[in-house]
Amino acid sequence: MSASFSQVASGIGADAATLPVDPLLQASRHADFQANAAMAMAKALKKNPREIAAAVIDAVAANELIDKLEIAGPGFINIALAPSALGALLIEQRAHARLGFEPPTKQTIVVDYSAPNVAKEMHVGHLRSTIIGDACVRLLEWQGHDVLRRNHLGDWGTPFGMLIEHLLDMGEIEATMELSQGDLNGFYRAARQKFEDSEDFQTRARNRVVSLQSGDAETLRLWKVLIEQSQKYFMQVYEQLEVRLDGSEFVGESAYNDELAPTLDALRSLGLIQTSDGAECLFPPGFTNRDSEPLPLIVRKRDGGYGYAATDLAALRQRTQTLHADRLLYVVGSPQSQHLEMVYEAGRMAGWLSLPATAEHIAFGSVLGSDGKMFKSRTGDTIRLSDLVTEAIERAASTIEAKNPDLSSEERAQVAQMVGIGAVKYADLSSERTRDYVFDFDRMLALEGNTAPYMQYAHARVQSIVRRAMQSHGIDATHIDQAPMIVGDEAEKVLAMQLLRFADVIEEVSGSLQFHRLAIYLFDLATAYSGFYNACPVVDAPDAQTRLSRLALCRLTARTLATGLSLLGIRAPQRM
Ligand code: ARG
Repeated sequence: MSASFSQVASGIGADAATLPVDPLLQASRHADFQANAAMAMAKALKKNPREIAAAVIDAVAANELIDKLEIAGPGFINIALAPSALGALLIEQRAHARLGFEPPTKQTIVVDYSAPNVAKEMHVGHLRSTIIGDACVRLLEWQGHDVLRRNHLGDWGTPFGMLIEHLLDMGEIEATMELSQGDLNGFYRAARQKFEDSEDFQTRARNRVVSLQSGDAETLRLWKVLIEQSQKYFMQVYEQLEVRLDGSEFVGESAYNDELAPTLDALRSLGLIQTSDGAECLFPPGFTNRDSEPLPLIVRKRDGGYGYAATDLAALRQRTQTLHADRLLYVVGSPQSQHLEMVYEAGRMAGWLSLPATAEHIAFGSVLGSDGKMFKSRTGDTIRLSDLVTEAIERAASTIEAKNPDLSSEERAQVAQMVGIGAVKYADLSSERTRDYVFDFDRMLALEGNTAPYMQYAHARVQSIVRRAMQSHGIDATHIDQAPMIVGDEAEKVLAMQLLRFADVIEEVSGSLQFHRLAIYLFDLATAYSGFYNACPVVDAPDAQTRLSRLALCRLTARTLATGLSLLGIRAPQRM
């Protein structure tokens, strides 16, 4: 098409002739696609757009892909694709390991995600970071990139003074028990309370921070007890959620301790550090407070300690300079946007972040309760994530029992696991990432609408149709997978067109990391399948060849749904 537009342009003697003209193709309600370029050219050439459209149609050589070209309205070109071409494209897609998606140039990508804080309950923000980060990891690994997972645990800093002293007060064994049971909230709150109530405790906590920072062996041992117990609890949540976090990616803030002084030295020798109020700061241009005063990134505090920003600078430097990452993703809530942008800018100023390497904030909104307020438990506490996942699975089990009482209890338990976890993940990933989203069990577990159970059920239904046809007609899977794919009926065509979009959608989502676009695609695919199934009998197809071809469409649909869901970290049951 593009060549044709250029041909026409040169035929008319336009200046644009030397440049390829963008055909401005888009999906159309009146045809498979429409090309809008004739309108744009008409303006530039001061000609009638319908004349240009006609000239373009004349210039398009007969080809296998296009069935019909027509002028519509003031000069649109409607394009109808040839059904035979669609069949051939589907066969190509079926033979392709990644369903037509061509792996891009391999990159080293660091995904910084989850990152809860030690001895503190993970909150729903960490849940979002974990789910979105896991989807990033799955999508990018599937494409063949080198993905380095970094769980930037909050495992260092002044709170550890009070936490260690509280641990000593409780007795190590008691404290370990409480923490390993996952009562991180209770532990943290009790320590905090003592810190507020007792001056003596405050002094002990402060001295303990000093011992920790100076590397006192016993203090470090106690600190490690806290870390290990918390990590055990976090791992329990990760296992429940079936995310790809196995403990090897715990690279917490403390991991950068030895890099903090060298990072500051490097910044200082680049002339980027200014002293302000006794603190050593970097002022990235363009960041100001409400009074238009430049905002500092505090690298070293007045008391000599390093904080959150210093750690992030050291981490960024290590990720690009030592690990040679091309792309840094920070899956962190929107409120930390300014902090991260300042860190990136500092990285650019220091020469640690330069193109083609990029850093992106994969920001997300807050989780709200059904009442529209911050999501909290009935008592106003942070909700324990492990309780949340357990509840989702339990509710899924009763939904499934009502829907399909024939499933064995064992199978029901397995499916409930897939559906419960899937519902929590899909509810998050199918909503626009940067928006706040409402955590609502009833909605996320509904069998209707853009939900995990609906998508999982759609997959199971396709599989059951395929099973039934295979049984009643004695067909095996290899037979179907080698069958010709014939696109005849209009509903077959709609399904085919939707299947063929897969690679484009993946391409788009790899850049934007807006997973709701993948979710919408999958939902539309399930809808297209329903339309196909209602219009085109599969088991009772008019003849063997049509049946095989339709079964091939079913199998490709199931595979596409399962692949898409797996990239979101969601399993697709065979039966439901
Ligand atoms: N631990 C932090 C929090 O709970 C999130 C860390 C995000 N990652 C980073 N590199 N700053 O808010």
